[in-house]
Amino acid sequence: MNIQVLYGTETGNAEMVADDIVDALSADVSIESSDMSKFSVTDLSPDVFYFIVCSTYGDGELPHSAQPFFEALDREQPNLCGLKFALFGLGDSFYETFNRGSEIVAQTLTRLGAEQVGERGVHDASAGQLPGDIAMPWAKAVLSGL
Ligand SMILES: Cc1cc2nc3c(=O)[nH]c(=O)nc-3n(C[C@H](O)[C@H](O)[C@H](O)COP(=O)(O)O)c2cc1C
Repeated sequence: MNIQVLYGTETGNAEMVADDIVDALSADVSIESSDMSKFSVTDLSPDVFYFIVCSTYGDGELPHSAQPFFEALDREQPNLCGLKFALFGLGDSFYETFNRGSEIVAQTLTRLGAEQVGERGVHDASAGQLPGDIAMPWAKAVLSGL
């Protein structure tokens, strides 16, 4: 199985989580990670499983590196039927708009026909846990459920 991890980040935490997911799963599957800002929506494929890792910035907005990808999805409206993804969100419960970025991701992808698999993984920066300590077991559980 081919797996692509796509991350959207402002200050690098989602990138670290993406790297942790690659480390956790690379013994079992073919997996690589990419910043969403360097990934074209035309390269999305139903033959690949996607782990999407995304933080929240501003007032419940997508982080900087996710914005071009989601603007392209809104503009081009590709048919994503058959595409499956699992979602990990990073945020801080200090904000009322806790983890809104990953909710925008889920809404946009499912509106275009993609299917979200498993429970959304969530990291709360106020909770005092390292994001990777949550993301790695979460990713293994998602993979074992496929
Ligand atoms: C200026 C600023 C605004 C933020 N806004 C939100 C927000 O609206 N909702 C939320 O859940 N987290 C918010 N966060 C917390 C970040 O999502 C969290 O720190 C995350 O780990 C950052 O990941 P990144 O480095 O991949 O962007 C904000 C952080 C900063 C510094």
